[in-house]
Amino acid sequence: DSIHVFAPATVANMVCGFDVLGFAIDEPGDEVYMRRVDQPGVRLVNITGDEGRLPREAERNTVSASVLTFLQHIGQTDIGLEIELHKHMPIGSGLGSSAASTVAGLFAVNTLLGSPLSRKELLPFAVQGEALACGHGHADNVAPALLGGVTLIRGYDPLDVVTLPAPPELHASVVFPHVDVPTRDARQMIRTKVALKDAVTQWGNIAGLVAGLFTADYELIGRSMHDVLIEPTRAILIPEFYEMRRIAMESGALTFGISGSGPSVFAFTQSRDKAAAITNLIQAHLTERGIESNGYVSGV
Ligand code: HSE
Repeated sequence: DSIHVFAPATVANMVCGFDVLGFAIDEPGDEVYMRRVDQPGVRLVNITGDEGRLPREAERNTVSASVLTFLQHIGQTDIGLEIELHKHMPIGSGLGSSAASTVAGLFAVNTLLGSPLSRKELLPFAVQGEALACGHGHADNVAPALLGGVTLIRGYDPLDVVTLPAPPELHASVVFPHVDVPTRDARQMIRTKVALKDAVTQWGNIAGLVAGLFTADYELIGRSMHDVLIEPTRAILIPEFYEMRRIAMESGALTFGISGSGPSVFAFTQSRDKAAAITNLIQAHLTERGIESNGYVSGV
C-alpha cells in the first residue's frame, strides 16, 4: 500500500511556443513516496530539497492540494495518505519544478487507488496545481511531465493535448544558473498585447517547428525556434543570456533559448556529444563570471 514515483523536469515554451509547447528531460526530477494509512486525511510528512520554502499545510502545498482535489473528484475523501516529497530542482528554476512535484503526487495517488483515471484525465488536476503554485494554470510543464516526450497544448478550454514526435538524434543541453526567477514575476512583466506582424512571425515559427519535428528536419527545427514576443523581455532577468547563446550557437547548436520562464536555458543539438560539450562550455563560462550552475544533457 505504498508507492514511489519520479516525475521529470520539463522545458516549457520551446522558445516560440509560449504556454503551448514543452518537452520532458531525463533529469533532474522530483520524487514522491505515498503510503496509505488508517487515519483519514492527507498529510505531508516530509519535504526535502526545497530549503524550507514550500508550504507544509496540505491545502496550500500544490502536491497535497491536487491530491485532495483528485480524491474529491473520485469521491474518496475518507482515505488516509502520507506523502513525502523529495525535490531535486529548485523552485523558480524554469525547469517545471512545481509541475514535476504535482504530477508525481497525482500519478502516485491514482496508481495507489487502482488507476481510476487515465494519464490524460489527470491533467486538469495538475493544471490546477500550477495555478496554485504560480498564479496561472499553464499546462506546458505538467503535460510533458505526465505524458513524456514533446507535447502541444492545442487548446486550454477545453484542455486539448497532443503528443508530438521527436527525431531520434535530437538532444538537449540544459543549464540552470543559480539565480532566482519566480514564474509569477516572469509572467507579470510580459506584454499582453502583441502586434499582428509579430504574431504572424510567431505562428509561422511554431508551425515550422512542429513540421520539423514530424519530418526530422533538424535545420527547420533550428530556424523555427525564435521568439519575438517574450524572450526579449525575459532575457533581461538572465545573466549572461546573450553570451550563453553565442557560445551555444558557435558550438553548433540548432537553437538556444529560455527554458520556461527562466533562468534555465537550453540548446537543441543533433547529437548527445554536442549537447554535452555545450553544457560544459556554458557552465565553464558561468563559473568564470562567478555564477554557480547545474548542467544536464537529455534526449528529447
Ligand atoms: N509557459 C510558462 C511561462 C512556463 O513561460 O510562463 C513556466 O515555466
